[in-house]
Amino acid sequence: MLQNLPMQPADKILQLMQMFREDTRTDKIDLGVGVYKNADGVTPIMGAVKAAEERIWQSETTKAYTGLAGTPEFNSAMIDLILDGAVPADSVASVATPGGTGALRIAFELVRQANPGVRFWYSNPTWANHAAMLKYLSLPAKAYRYFNDGGVDVNGMLEDLKGAAPGDVVLLHGCCHNPTGANLRAEDWDAVIDLINAEGLIPLIDVAYQGFGDGLEADAANLRKVAKACPETLIAASCSKNFGVYKERTGILLAVDHNAAQRAVTQSNLSTLNRMNYSFPPDHGARIVSTVLSDAELRADWQSELEAVRSGMLDLRKDLSSALRQETNSDRFDFLANHRGMFSMLGITPDEVVRLRETHAIYVIGDSRMNVAGLNKSTVPVLARAIADVIG
Ligand code: LMR
Repeated sequence: MLQNLPMQPADKILQLMQMFREDTRTDKIDLGVGVYKNADGVTPIMGAVKAAEERIWQSETTKAYTGLAGTPEFNSAMIDLILDGAVPADSVASVATPGGTGALRIAFELVRQANPGVRFWYSNPTWANHAAMLKYLSLPAKAYRYFNDGGVDVNGMLEDLKGAAPGDVVLLHGCCHNPTGANLRAEDWDAVIDLINAEGLIPLIDVAYQGFGDGLEADAANLRKVAKACPETLIAASCSKNFGVYKERTGILLAVDHNAAQRAVTQSNLSTLNRMNYSFPPDHGARIVSTVLSDAELRADWQSELEAVRSGMLDLRKDLSSALRQETNSDRFDFLANHRGMFSMLGITPDEVVRLRETHAIYVIGDSRMNVAGLNKSTVPVLARAIADVIG
């Protein structure tokens, strides 16, 4: 039987992780997978996370199953963090999931249950796993224009989305667009909301980097506006990056419906989808997150560490764009300082990406996406010189 299986295409991000691991050069630089690294190249456990784990270890008395939709403390703490009262609590159904990917998977299946055959629209480019998962689930999907010359092609995006049919789902990045780093401005979000409501579309917002762009509140401002303005909104959130709990697989899916009477039915579908896929969601990461969010001291500590991570990335962006100005004698890479979040697309060719890797031991994704958080003060000039070399 197993011999009938075809070889699966490798995920390009995971493939690059493997290549980096196998590279024996000691000066190699990993700007591939979206994992934060501090100035020493380490992905640290955040102080508040470590403290919460210790408290949990001391106080936890059982490993018995929790709720099918997650522990209520986690779900309500996350609803507050993401929506902050933008919509009434009784309009939100939620399920804890294994990471943001789990939340997206449940969202895709929920849509399929509710409205089979609708088309999903995603940005071109988007996180590779969006398109891959939709294809895997055989869900109709189409890309809309998004990125042009270092910025967002808002007109192209709106024009393409006019081609969507009522009920189609528009996948949006809540903040820190992955892979481009180029984000919609507040007024662009207003135009997108108007179009969604005029055409009867459903927004599905992937928010995997809240706190990495302009700050915890600012990064959620636009999705809150969507949730307020649109009759129904799905939000898939990840705690991997902003709590640094990558391997704990911690995420949540929110389904907001202004018709509060619908909530119980939606909730039963979400819980059933969890049950059908993996029964109970993982609890350890969720418990860390709810412990941090519900304790004033831990929360303040977490927020200040997250803020330091965010401002460190902004400094690296500014340093890199000015180093590139010097190295290339041009303003070609100035856009890097204006982008937000972990990623930017350098806009160099696939061949130049290969030369960065082969000649300079610098790893970026094939579409030229780089993880800014993989840099530090001493590797910024190294990268700038290498880019100038490969494009020169
Ligand atoms: C990324 O985009 O690098 C991260 O979200 C990690 C992943 O799973 O792809």
